[in-house]
Amino acid sequence: MGLTGNTTARRGCRSAPWVLLTALVCSVQPVAGLAAEPLALQGIMKDMGRNMQAIVDGLSREDYAKAERAALAIADHPQPPVGEKIRVMSFIGGNAPRFKAFDGETHDNAKALARASKSGNGEEAIAAFRKLQSSCLACHQAFRQPFQEHFYGKADIR
Ligand code: HEC
Repeated sequence: MGLTGNTTARRGCRSAPWVLLTALVCSVQPVAGLAAEPLALQGIMKDMGRNMQAIVDGLSREDYAKAERAALAIADHPQPPVGEKIRVMSFIGGNAPRFKAFDGETHDNAKALARASKSGNGEEAIAAFRKLQSSCLACHQAFRQPFQEHFYGKADIR
């Protein structure tokens, strides 16, 4: 009994440097990983992608309420935090108006799709969906790769 207690105490004592080391490693790691930390924009984009899938599903089922909800979620997507916006704007510089125009077009096309869905007009909603998808593509073709290279230091391999 006494022996076990002793051993535990000694082990606890010997493990102290490890606790310190672990704490050190754990506190350093996030700093080291900072460079590759994904932008909040990337999370917003992932949600946009999921909402596009929800629209396809809504249109396939003629569930226009579902398509409308997802289109409105795209139109009113959240904004990245101010600090990130500043980073993004200082990177794109003179291309900022172009970037904002793509965002504006996407917003307008998503609104048009929401309206077409609300009215239950399948053909109109499908045509609006195509337009919306094209506005996503236009921005991706212009900006995705430069963002990937600048913020993550890699070429877009997806
Ligand atoms: C104003 C420009 C712009 C518009 C408009 C835009 N995107 Fe993006 N999107 C980007 C950029 C920049 C990235 C790369 C972000 C990154 O990797 O951090 C991206 C990345 C993505 C990704 C990949 C996310 C991942 O998993 O890495 C998806 C999915 C996506 N966008 C969906 C959409 C959809 C759907 C729309 C239209 C409804 C859209 N985007 C409209 C700029 C835009």
